[in-house]
Amino acid sequence: MKWEGVIKHYRNYLPVTEKTPIVTLLEGNTPLISANNISKEFKGKIKLYLKYEGLNPTASFKDRGMTVAVSCALGRGAKAVMCASTGNTSASAAAYAAAGELKCIVLIPKGAIALGKLSQALLHGAKVIAIEGNFDDALELAKGITSKYPITLVNSLNPDRIEGQKTAAFEICDILETSPNYQAMPVGNAGNITAYWKGYSEYKEKGKIKNLPKILGFQASGSAPIVEGHPIKNPQTIATAIRIGNPARWKEAVEAAENSNGLIEKISDEEILTAYKMLAKREGIFVEPASAISIAGIIKLYKRGYFDSRSSNSHSPIKIVCILTGHGLKDPDIAIKESSQPVVIPPKEEAVLEVAGYK
Ligand code: F0G
Repeated sequence: MKWEGVIKHYRNYLPVTEKTPIVTLLEGNTPLISANNISKEFKGKIKLYLKYEGLNPTASFKDRGMTVAVSCALGRGAKAVMCASTGNTSASAAAYAAAGELKCIVLIPKGAIALGKLSQALLHGAKVIAIEGNFDDALELAKGITSKYPITLVNSLNPDRIEGQKTAAFEICDILETSPNYQAMPVGNAGNITAYWKGYSEYKEKGKIKNLPKILGFQASGSAPIVEGHPIKNPQTIATAIRIGNPARWKEAVEAAENSNGLIEKISDEEILTAYKMLAKREGIFVEPASAISIAGIIKLYKRGYFDSRSSNSHSPIKIVCILTGHGLKDPDIAIKESSQPVVIPPKEEAVLEVAGYK
């Protein structure tokens, strides 16, 4: 079947009408990859799947929400959109605004967004404004300005973003022909966890799935307001995408975790980097650090015995889907920093063979 983007595929579930002008870059329909090598670590107890959202048009899951947010904004006569961003939202907003011929203004924390994301927002022609502050400061500004001026806020506070992003949950169920037992994902501003929970819940209501997955959300240790139970003034983590101290959809994130009988946990930067390298080296999948937190979280819970009691009454492995939210090329600096550098040699066969271990 020809893929025409998430709005056309799931339009009955989305807030669009015949009249909505559809702005799409053919986002969605991302692969659900079986993590055969990492699954070996779990000794048959867990079957791990990876939803590779880095393969969306701007290389993150934000495109699912942005196609709906920008299309609906255009349908309501908007001329401009604005967002605060740790990078991916700005890249996606800039691209979809370009496609929809809208003005786009993005507010980013100065010096704290990954190179690939900055290059996208700039090249797509957004007005990129760096704030001497963090993401939370930028979001406050964006909320204030868009409440006073005719500019549509396209952060995940905008319900159209949630509507679009919930389609990833539909895709997972459509491919598995059931729901997973667990779903693991990073939590930053908490829009995506809200969206997935909404997606699964709607699919259950419609009778498309029988059971709801347990939702496992992960925050970086230095940026874990939900886990700590209070906003973090100066959040820190190498996973810059989720360096957020006061998530806009905090309440919804807690509800998703509690109502699904899942949890929200914190993971150290070291554990994130270990999982980041493991995904690249053992599965051939390149993600940005924030996305690797899903795998790091599952490994941590597995080691703690979290899944032990949960699989005892079944012989088949439990199905866990990890959401890989953004592509590794978004943040090339960290990939290079975490790797050994190329060996420099004279252009001689002997020298190549020696380095390659054949001599
Ligand atoms: N993973 C990546 C790669 C992200 O860019 C984000 C959020 C998340 C996970 C967390 O999703 O905020 O819905 O809980 N990035 C936002 C941005 C904040 O501005 O690009 P969330």
